[in-house]
Amino acid sequence: MEALSKLADNSIDSVVTDPPYGISYLNNTWDIQVPTIEFWKEVYRVLKPGGHVLSFSSARTYHRMTINIELAGFEIRDQIMWMYGQGMPKSQNVGKKVDEIQGNVRRVVEVKKVYKLQLHTDSKRTKVPYEVTTGDSEWEGWGTGLKPAHEPICVARKPISKKTVAENVLQFGTGAMNIEGSKIQSEDQDRHPSNVIFDATSVQALSIQNPLGEKFFFVSKPGIKEKLIGFEEGRNSHPTVKPVALMAYLCKLVTPANGVILDPFMGSGSTGVSALCSGFKFVGMELGEDYYQISRTRISQFELFMEFIPTKTSSMKKVGKTKKKKLSTQGSTNMVGGIWGGLKLVKVA
Ligand SMILES: C[S@@+](CC[C@H](N)C(=O)[O-])C[C@H]1O[C@@H](n2cnc3c(N)ncnc32)[C@H](O)[C@@H]1O
Repeated sequence: MEALSKLADNSIDSVVTDPPYGISYLNNTWDIQVPTIEFWKEVYRVLKPGGHVLSFSSARTYHRMTINIELAGFEIRDQIMWMYGQGMPKSQNVGKKVDEIQGNVRRVVEVKKVYKLQLHTDSKRTKVPYEVTTGDSEWEGWGTGLKPAHEPICVARKPISKKTVAENVLQFGTGAMNIEGSKIQSEDQDRHPSNVIFDATSVQALSIQNPLGEKFFFVSKPGIKEKLIGFEEGRNSHPTVKPVALMAYLCKLVTPANGVILDPFMGSGSTGVSALCSGFKFVGMELGEDYYQISRTRISQFELFMEFIPTKTSSMKKVGKTKKKKLSTQGSTNMVGGIWGGLKLVKVA
């Protein structure tokens, strides 16, 4: 809020962000609550009339985030679903717990070798034996949770201040979406961008064959290669990194040429990297000092990420590779803003 208050009224073209979901993910204190109505009112103030907000959320707290956006004055225009196959189910084995309570003996049916849970470490992953058991109680096979396979993205817009969207874009450059520039390439024709985005494994899970699948945009969670880029040692250790291909697609969808994109919850800077790779300007904020440093490292070397940016929107196909080159961590040549202490801010033109 403090850093946002320093931005001028109607100075931002779009907001593309991945805020705290309010689910205390991996017990992170920054994820305790969703952004408040007051926060979104500040975002409303700095956005140009007709400016879009694209904001990620979780399946179970989307309603809370979205009502706050709406109560701040935005129109809720749509919801994009990013569907992926790599989510980890968190489900208690109720049958096993019932057997513990009742003192029932469970039979070992299989011994699997599974990876030891080593979240966000650089050490080599090791496999350990895991016994799969079964019991005979009537609650065998019951659990408490589904496998997460989608993240909803709220599509909101500050109301236009002209009579029509056409008049609004002529005055402010905002109010419309870049449909042509975000079209999905398929063999016979380019398809209108839809409100569903898949990754490759979710497509397989849905048994969608390529010809149909090509109607949609595909992008998977970032792999180790993307997390290593820009670091001499270690890697991007943020626990909720978004893929730059996805963020670049979203930036392009709602931002006019040369527009300024705001991400008030930068994390490791994926929106900033994507914004710069796509030729936009960027303003970002991040509370965590470590995450802020990671975002600065990545944003100042944004060119290294060009290979992940879809040229025409079809990330199923590999996009062109760039040779790794070391850039100054002081910032790229077009970094004109600075860093604000406390709440850190990266401003790029
Ligand atoms: C979901 S993460 C964003 C991850 C990002 N999309 C990425 O790809 O790395 C949300 C981030 O918001 C930051 N955050 C939480 N509250 C904040 C606040 N009040 N001001 C600025 N940043 C905040 C957290 O430290 C966290 O890094």
